[in-house]
Amino acid sequence: MVEVLLGVTGCIGAYKVPELVRLLRAGGAGVTVVMTRNAGWFVTEGTLQTLSQRPVYGDMFHPRTADGIEHIDLARRADLLLVAPATAHTLASFAGGLADDLLSTIYLASACPVMVAPAMNSFMYQHSAVQANLEILRRRGVEVVGPGTGELACGESGPGRLLEPADIAAKALALAGGKTGQILAGLNVVISSGPTREPLDGVRFLSNPATGRMGHALAEAAIHRGATVTLVSGPTHLPDPAGARVVHVTRVEEMRHAILEGSEGSDLVVMAAAVGDYRLARPAAGKLKKSARGLDLHLEPAPDILAELGRRRGSAPRPVLVGFAAETDDLVLNARRKLEAKNLDHIVANPVNRAGAGFGAETNQVTLISRNGDTDSWPVMSKSQVAARLLDHLAGVHFSAAAGTEG
Ligand SMILES: Cc1cc2nc3c(=O)[nH]c(=O)nc-3n(C[C@H](O)[C@H](O)[C@H](O)COP(=O)(O)O)c2cc1C
Repeated sequence: MVEVLLGVTGCIGAYKVPELVRLLRAGGAGVTVVMTRNAGWFVTEGTLQTLSQRPVYGDMFHPRTADGIEHIDLARRADLLLVAPATAHTLASFAGGLADDLLSTIYLASACPVMVAPAMNSFMYQHSAVQANLEILRRRGVEVVGPGTGELACGESGPGRLLEPADIAAKALALAGGKTGQILAGLNVVISSGPTREPLDGVRFLSNPATGRMGHALAEAAIHRGATVTLVSGPTHLPDPAGARVVHVTRVEEMRHAILEGSEGSDLVVMAAAVGDYRLARPAAGKLKKSARGLDLHLEPAPDILAELGRRRGSAPRPVLVGFAAETDDLVLNARRKLEAKNLDHIVANPVNRAGAGFGAETNQVTLISRNGDTDSWPVMSKSQVAARLLDHLAGVHFSAAAGTEG
């Protein structure tokens, strides 16, 4: 059983912690809760003690146990220190190396992976002090998950919302089980993410609303499963996943070049980027002038990276090729056609015109279609959960001992 040490801090998002404890335990983790003094204002010790079925820790100078040194013992036993929600104050304590309460002292004493899920008002989150602290933590290898964007408890809207408990639990369990769950260890995985941009002139471009959430979630999930990951990302607002080699690109041709280079000798390529289908052959270098006559642009097809990968691989078993198909109509039929036309092993069909799925959404509702004819519709899940389930499936089918020579 993996051991999650769950730090809870003084923020309104703490109302989601009971559900997080339940999900972590349902996922097979033992959960020990450490609350800051201020967390007790938002969620009760009794609730968390009952749900975790363990004592809740809080006061460094009134230890729960008589033997040993509590903060050292708690740090030693953990496979993961997860702080959810993480206040601006606790993030600053961690970044600055303060040790003035049990949680910040445990952070310094722990050798296990650390994950923080920030939650706060969007002005607080965007403040340069908070961003600088997060940057320090990321550079130290701390996994920062979220925050989500949307309605906040303070009535404002923007970044700062605690990620959904299911999302945090999926990421935490993957990281906590990292040592034992390295099902992609030794494999080279290439993942594309985000949109591409094709210039129309010196200042305008043709693109799409992809945010990169799906591709980045896949990169994180692959890293947690032990893979060596190359992430080829179009322009997004997401931080680079810790542990991935990230190639930042803009145009389809740049993405093509990076993917083809990265896929040499790779075991798995997952194309989750929303790659443009069209481009302007010769975009003007300067800004096109406004004209009352309007403007006709002739677009030519952009390179089809997946089709090229499929042609190059031919009948060889590697790399395993997985595409994403964003569809608005005849989801399964169109996706299956793509799988066959491009010589893929699997395609993840993705309705982009449904609530809770597609561009920009935090969740996705996908159908996994495989070359052998299997079609499996998954329920609405967070993009992290889709990533975890997809990689676990691919590992089982292609890369486990049981997959044998077919894999
Ligand atoms: C009603 C209320 C809501 C708060 N929500 C947040 C929040 O969402 N995020 C945050 O960083 N701080 C929030 N704070 C401020 C923190 O509680 C405060 O900075 C505190 O010192 C954090 O201590 P801790 O990190 O040790 O728990 C809130 C305070 C109050 C009174």
